[in-house]
Amino acid sequence: MCGIVGYIGARNVKDVVVGGLAKLEYRGYDSAGIAVIDEGNIQVVKSVGRLANLEDKLASMEISGQAAIGHTRWATHGKPSDENAHPHQDCSGRFAIVHNGIVENYLSLREELIAAGHQFNSETDTEVVAHLIEELYNGDLFQTMIEVGKRIRGAYALVVLAKDHPDEIIAMRKASPMIIGLGENENFVASDIPAILEYTRDIYVMEDGEMAVLTTAGVECFTMDGEPVHKEVYKVTWDAVSAERGGYPHFMLKEIHEQPRAVRDTLRGRIAEDFSRVQLDELKLDDAFMKAVDRIHIIACGTSWHAGLVGKAVIESYARIPVDVEIASEYRYRRPLFTPNTLVIVISQSGETADTLAALREVKRQGRRVLAITNVVGSSAEREADDVIITWAGPEIAVASTKAYTTQLIALYLLGIKMAHVRGEIGDDKVRELLKGLEDLPQATEQVLDTAPQLERFAQRYVDTMDTFFIGRSLDYSVAMEGALKLKEISYIHAEAYAAGELKHGTLALITEGVPVIALATQPDLYEKTVSNIVEVKARGAFVLGMTWIGNEDLEKTVDEVIYLPKTLPELAPILAVIPLQLLAYYAAVARGNDVDKPRNLAKSVTVE
Ligand code: F6R
Repeated sequence: MCGIVGYIGARNVKDVVVGGLAKLEYRGYDSAGIAVIDEGNIQVVKSVGRLANLEDKLASMEISGQAAIGHTRWATHGKPSDENAHPHQDCSGRFAIVHNGIVENYLSLREELIAAGHQFNSETDTEVVAHLIEELYNGDLFQTMIEVGKRIRGAYALVVLAKDHPDEIIAMRKASPMIIGLGENENFVASDIPAILEYTRDIYVMEDGEMAVLTTAGVECFTMDGEPVHKEVYKVTWDAVSAERGGYPHFMLKEIHEQPRAVRDTLRGRIAEDFSRVQLDELKLDDAFMKAVDRIHIIACGTSWHAGLVGKAVIESYARIPVDVEIASEYRYRRPLFTPNTLVIVISQSGETADTLAALREVKRQGRRVLAITNVVGSSAEREADDVIITWAGPEIAVASTKAYTTQLIALYLLGIKMAHVRGEIGDDKVRELLKGLEDLPQATEQVLDTAPQLERFAQRYVDTMDTFFIGRSLDYSVAMEGALKLKEISYIHAEAYAAGELKHGTLALITEGVPVIALATQPDLYEKTVSNIVEVKARGAFVLGMTWIGNEDLEKTVDEVIYLPKTLPELAPILAVIPLQLLAYYAAVARGNDVDKPRNLAKSVTVE
């Protein structure tokens, strides 16, 4: 899950590459490096730590050239260090490469290359590729790279500079994202679009098993066997500013505040004007198939998995189809049972999460139909699934997922309502009621954002707290799980989510004087039951922040503080209830002085197992 940028053209290559890397730091940030080719010499500069360390090093150096490649790393093989930072070189220094992914057969290649006299400087899997290029090089870089592609196994987005070929950059892609940016007398390559958006909106999305040769004159694409490939230009419609922080101190806060817009965009065009039906016209899934579906497997990781839990409740209760929600890294290693008409839904913000993709591929191999819910057009999930619902959240940069979750819920609601309608499980009136409820959500999410000052105040309790609990029943329990994950990942506070009725079976022993408990009570039919569980924690001294709908002041009798949510249909409450939990995690992390957008040990796009 590293970030790659390459540039060939007349601009200041250092500025283009380092600037691009800055936009990709969400992909990895434990070290960074750059290689520049100038008049036949390759100069490599790298530094452990954040990109700023590399920039400091570069500030005092005279570097110019006509082509450069850069990398921001998230360690897989070999700890974060200067030596393990990319670019990597061969023994002669004639080649420099950057790589995202994992070379699975690197150990055997390394032994072979050492036996052939190569000397290694790092612990990385990537360095074998540099030496392999050197070993196989026959004067023709393109042919050499075809041979290299035949020898390495695993996942890679690979970009190569060669001393003897100062006028070209070669890029190869297998199971790791990579795009090409097309300019005039200049061209770009990168792991993701924001890196190059400042310069161009014309993109080639590289497919698995493709390679590209970039020169100032143009870009040619090929299969890994060297057969030319015709590519369509994809025009990016979002602007560079939308990928920036937009005035907020952190991307996460900006993205939390973007949720009204993101929810609105994800709904746009998908509800009939008279609220009579869901319009998911992009789906190839026809009514006959929707009627025939007899089981659904939802597969995802992390926050997307939490969205799946809400999806299960929605689909089961509206469409009456049994749903299993599976963690992708577990699912892919067992032998799932399929019914004759199982539909598999994968949920992935990035569309590049390795475990989710592996599960998707295995399911497809078994001939099953896959629908992907993803935020990234052109991602692997989007391209490989049979059907896709795009969540129009826009680029999500903060590591902690926020707007992706709420828009994933919207996609699941729309799908659940559509399936239920087609199957005759809900009538026109219920469809109308639900769709009107969805239509009101952007406005309601705006209102929920007004709770920010209250949460900022409450978050001060977390400056010195190391344990906290989130409780709720039914849909509130699913949202509680997401709230606990948010708090854990950015504030580093141990947080557990519990089904409120389950506490008394063990966990209640952990509730002592002053332990903060967040209690979700947004579901009217379960309200009284939840209140009894809140009373149980209060009796053990917990300090409770409750959450319920506006008008239900009854909760004030039981808890220490209340967050009020705008009224909505109980089924839709998760979209509103999660927002205060995101804000709480955000302000707790800020209060503790943490790096909110780049929490320790985590990276945005998990493209390794
Ligand atoms: C948590 C978070 C992660 C991701 C997970 C799956 O805030 O962002 O748990 O949800 O890594 O990522 P995607 O959805 O890109 O497959």
